[in-house]
Amino acid sequence: MNGKLKGKHFITLRDWSNDEINLLLDVAGDLKRKFYMDVPTPYLPYKTIFLMFFEQSTRTRNSMEAGIAQLGGHANYLDTGTMQIAHGEVAKDTATILSSYGHGIACRHCVWGVGNQYITEMAKYASRPVMNLQCDLYHPMQGVADLMTIKEKFEDTKGLKVSIIWAYATSHKKPISVPLTQCLLFTRYKMDVTLAYPEGFELPDWVIEESKANALASGGSFKISHDIDEAFKDADVVIPKNWGSWSSKQENVDIELFKDWKCTEARMALASDRVCYMHALPADRGNEVDDSVIDGPHSIVFQEAENRLHTAKAVMALTI
Ligand code: CP
Repeated sequence: MNGKLKGKHFITLRDWSNDEINLLLDVAGDLKRKFYMDVPTPYLPYKTIFLMFFEQSTRTRNSMEAGIAQLGGHANYLDTGTMQIAHGEVAKDTATILSSYGHGIACRHCVWGVGNQYITEMAKYASRPVMNLQCDLYHPMQGVADLMTIKEKFEDTKGLKVSIIWAYATSHKKPISVPLTQCLLFTRYKMDVTLAYPEGFELPDWVIEESKANALASGGSFKISHDIDEAFKDADVVIPKNWGSWSSKQENVDIELFKDWKCTEARMALASDRVCYMHALPADRGNEVDDSVIDGPHSIVFQEAENRLHTAKAVMALTI
């Protein structure tokens, strides 16, 4: 690892080495222990972070707001609909100005073909670190929390069978950023990753190529399946979650044909005895997953959600 992480942007984990991610997880673990023991962690006293949201959030907003307060700093929550962005103010001007007022900028912008470009443009001009709170391509905050959770449950990630599975939902069209981030990240950690989806819900070709290359380099594996039962079979971790179409060729796919792509107790019974059920949340209960699974003994969704706090704090403590 070269140098410190102060000032480093956190836009995609592709820009963070495994050594840097491992350090981040170490810091998150330390912050978690201190949180449990009520040990103060004022690592960022009097620091201000701006939290810009183009979309709704429960976990991301509150883990960042609570997190910066617990580090001794302060968050300004910014609903972008109330900012001059609504009148056309550009990313460059917003980033230049906000970074002159505080110590970091974080942003969620999930509009396909726009979000990542916007956040990257801000990073070009901000004099402080820029953090991605989910865009059309990446959700690095979710990715590191998921990795932390998997590492807490399983001592060794080598050969761990992890299935990232498309699931039917009606709640809203969910971005591809969560499964995309998981494919790219878990293959770097020697896991045997299966990506399963009905035809029409593929991820971009470059993601598949890079996931395969990551797996080859790490000693893990990466495969694609269109059979949901096959994806559950013998899996140690299942992550069944909806994602929406992102390319025009997918627009005509009739999602109602795939109502059966659901996480049920019968499918969990196909998995390994130690299987863990994960979901970034919010879950579309009754569609993506049965209540008996998400509320059942194999579910670790609340540990996963809690780890969003500890990892968010680690990202801020290391980069601001
Ligand atoms: N998982 C996640 O990012 O949750 P929110 O949309 O509630 O922030």
